[in-house]
Amino acid sequence: MSADDQKYKQLYNKIYGTYIDVSSTENTVSNYTTLAKDYETDFVGLGYETPRVIAQTALELIQDQKNSKFLDIACGTGLVAQELRKSGFKGGIDGIDGSAGMLELAKPKNLYSQLKEAFIYPGIDMPFENNAYMGVVCSGGFGPGHLDPKVLVDLIRVCVSGGVIVFATRFNAVAGEYVSALNKEIERLEENGLWKKVKNFTTTYFDYDFSNQEDPTKSEPLLASIHCYKKMLGSF
Ligand SMILES: C[S@@+](CC[C@H](N)C(=O)[O-])C[C@H]1O[C@@H](n2cnc3c(N)ncnc32)[C@H](O)[C@@H]1O
Repeated sequence: MSADDQKYKQLYNKIYGTYIDVSSTENTVSNYTTLAKDYETDFVGLGYETPRVIAQTALELIQDQKNSKFLDIACGTGLVAQELRKSGFKGGIDGIDGSAGMLELAKPKNLYSQLKEAFIYPGIDMPFENNAYMGVVCSGGFGPGHLDPKVLVDLIRVCVSGGVIVFATRFNAVAGEYVSALNKEIERLEENGLWKKVKNFTTTYFDYDFSNQEDPTKSEPLLASIHCYKKMLGSF
């Protein structure tokens, strides 16, 4: 086994063992705070490109970027906002995350107009106005031990009618039940006329996935769905 294989397996085990507690979003968020200084090295080290994919996809779907504002859900240390800026977006970006430690690292990057430290829970409105954002984006927030799928409706609430909501969820052996619940909620919101699918596609979330594989030499890429929805007129 090469040193690299071993390194990636260890990193994967750290993410799924030390960062993520699938049974508690509070524990997961607290773990992100404890590990915030390692976060970018660890995630980017495993090939985490999703923030760039989310940012570019959202920008492609928005016509009037000059007058648009984004909300970055579970923004962490600011990787999505960094990618929005790299792609030339000059408008306002607000961010929200439950982890004080992750936000401490986002603040000095000066990417955001406002950063709110708050947990996002189903049935509780996030501290943002209705119809405020042309783009609502989330990378890495929808997965077991993170955001409950029932919070999606609040992403729609804060989005402008005609605006886009772009988010990722990874799917592997660990996430099966979560992904089913998320897909059910996505469909329910579409059946109720709150949003309409623009496109979905699959991308690589991490270059490595050991959820089905003990042997470090036999990993496969961990895939993610990128969901893009448009808020329907009069939803809120
Ligand atoms: C994988 S990180 C993603 C951070 C950033 N979006 C990125 O792509 O680098 C997941 C983030 O979700 C946040 N988070 C998880 N569950 C949350 C919840 N219920 N409310 C608020 N933030 C939450 C964590 O604190 C963490 O910063």
